[in-house]
Amino acid sequence: MELIDGKKIAESIKKEIAIEVERIKNRDGKVPHLAAILVGEDPASQTYVNSKAKACHEVGFDSSTYRFPADVSEKELLETVEFINNDPEIDGLIVQLPLPKHIDPQKVIQQIRPEKDVDGFHPVNVGRMTIGLPAYISATPNGIMELIMRSGIQTTGKSCVILGRSNIVGKPMSILMARNAEPGNATVTVCHSKTKNLKEVTAQADILIVAIGQPEFVTADMVKEGAVVIDVGIHRVESSQTKSGFRLIGDVKFDEVSKKASHITPVPGGVGPMTIVSLLMNTLKSAKKEIYN
Ligand code: GUN
Repeated sequence: MELIDGKKIAESIKKEIAIEVERIKNRDGKVPHLAAILVGEDPASQTYVNSKAKACHEVGFDSSTYRFPADVSEKELLETVEFINNDPEIDGLIVQLPLPKHIDPQKVIQQIRPEKDVDGFHPVNVGRMTIGLPAYISATPNGIMELIMRSGIQTTGKSCVILGRSNIVGKPMSILMARNAEPGNATVTVCHSKTKNLKEVTAQADILIVAIGQPEFVTADMVKEGAVVIDVGIHRVESSQTKSGFRLIGDVKFDEVSKKASHITPVPGGVGPMTIVSLLMNTLKSAKKEIYN
């Protein structure tokens, strides 16, 4: 079994980005700039936004965070998005989700100019990705494709089973894995809560991508010998074996599944570290006008 070391791959991509930032800074005097809008005091959202700012700093990007109290009006938020849309210094904008209940997230996302939507959540980017046009692809699917590519895993002609059909992971993964490109060209099956005989379906998979949001859901009997297993889940559970009293686990029962898999992503240190790096890659693409020109 080969471990897909997302942490190591993410670090090497960050080094590549930093070199490219230095190059465009010297050539054009331009520094890529990522802006984030953060509403309210949700601790997880604050952690995400702080991690993004730190990652920007590490690769030499500029970053800015627009913070608002939880009772900010939708109008003020939409105006802020518009203000950032029109700021030529800012290449990418993300609005940290979830937003408070009185704000319609789709309205806010659709206010972002697709050219700056480095989260890849705008319907224009989702649609462009779907029909194979250059597009910003959202962080987790983009990170998984990068992990597959950099681990030298061949996908053409393989059977790929995806557990989960969410807009941010399962659905885009199904499109990317079936696209006419490498990685891609797989025969894709999407499973969800209504799927019958789940175990028989997953046991056919050469590549199994698990984004079901249930701790240790996938057990060894659901996995084919030699399969590639990508675990998107992350759950904090109590543990008597760690100093903090907690440990992180995925949607896959790692100890038993890793004995059957040819390649597997650990949790933590698999898909997770790739997500912020994906956002950096998209912001760099925006600064270089690679997607829209
Ligand atoms: N909240 C959880 N994940 C994400 C993400 O990838 N982007 C944004 N904007 N918010 C999130």
